[in-house]
Amino acid sequence: MARILLTGGAGYIGSHTHVALRAAGYDVTILDDFSNSDPGVAERLERLTGGPVDLVTGSVLDRALLDRMFAETAFDGVVHFAARKAVGESVAKPLDYFETNIGGLLTLTQAMKAAGVWRIVFSSTATVYGEPEVFPLTEDMPLSHTSPYAFTKLTCEQILGQAAAADPWAVGILRYFNPVGAHPSGLIGEDPRGIPDNLMPYIAKVALGELERLQVHGNDYDTPDGTCWRDYIHVMDLAQAHVLSLNALMEGRGHVLNIGTGRPVSVLEMHAAYQDVVGRELPHVIGPRRPGDVPRLYADPARARDELGFEAEYGLRDMCQSSWDWVQAQSAGWRFNS
Ligand code: WQD
Repeated sequence: MARILLTGGAGYIGSHTHVALRAAGYDVTILDDFSNSDPGVAERLERLTGGPVDLVTGSVLDRALLDRMFAETAFDGVVHFAARKAVGESVAKPLDYFETNIGGLLTLTQAMKAAGVWRIVFSSTATVYGEPEVFPLTEDMPLSHTSPYAFTKLTCEQILGQAAAADPWAVGILRYFNPVGAHPSGLIGEDPRGIPDNLMPYIAKVALGELERLQVHGNDYDTPDGTCWRDYIHVMDLAQAHVLSLNALMEGRGHVLNIGTGRPVSVLEMHAAYQDVVGRELPHVIGPRRPGDVPRLYADPARARDELGFEAEYGLRDMCQSSWDWVQAQSAGWRFNS
């Protein structure tokens, strides 16, 4: 039974990946400092997986803790989620992002090397494509960064690439597009603190009545309905992609892959789909463009299909329904981040 260390495993994508890894027969240890997740998720993960959750509270910046963990447990690989991930915040606090995201990866990989653990799945992002002009996006397209956050992810990709030239690393780099939705049980999901920046959690709070209306950030883009296209992918599909990535690394097959559906959806289409699920009008207004937004961002998912056998299964309605079920369940009983 291979054992995997899941850094940031109590977070949104990490918790869903925990469930998927356990279902695939992996043993999992979560390391999380709960800087952007709630400790209450552990109890709900136990309900979902039907067994105890092995969880260590701590930071990937804590080398001594990592050394102890690798000395005590023979890990077969690591899935590295623990990082700061808010684009806007990274502009205001670049050094914090460099410390956590780049410093965290360096501390983790040094501890892994010392312990002879060479398999790592790295959580990357489509924003490493900068402001692309050609679509759909393939993995060989030019990379750039338009924020300190994107800079950290691009730098980490390059660190891992160069490390693999010197030591026997097996590296899986997954470039997420727009993760949305929640586990169909309603027990785990996205739990942003404060007013959400991202589209779906914002619409969800409008549906709950916690926010008055959705402001659409611009409808004068070069798209059919004037609002930006994104490649939204259900978090359950994204979690399964991590299982397939680990399976490939266990066979020594490294990869750099887009994880998306290849099917772009506009802001207004997402709003309409969520409205259909909720069954009533969700107020919205057209506002000005948001600085930094690009008109289109969607994947060519072919390489993930060819190299991992990955194909997204969930559709837009599933994404909206699972989000709506989750936020209702959360407001009914497990609000931890007010
Ligand atoms: C999607 C679309 C907005 C909110 C970001 C990060 C990316 C990744 C995912 C970390 C855009 C529009 C949004 C609102 C709106 N995070 N929108 N009203 O910007 O594509 O990606 O989150 O890896 O790195 O950049 O996602 O959900 O913020 O925006 O009109 O209240 O929805 O303008 O067109 P984005 P998003």
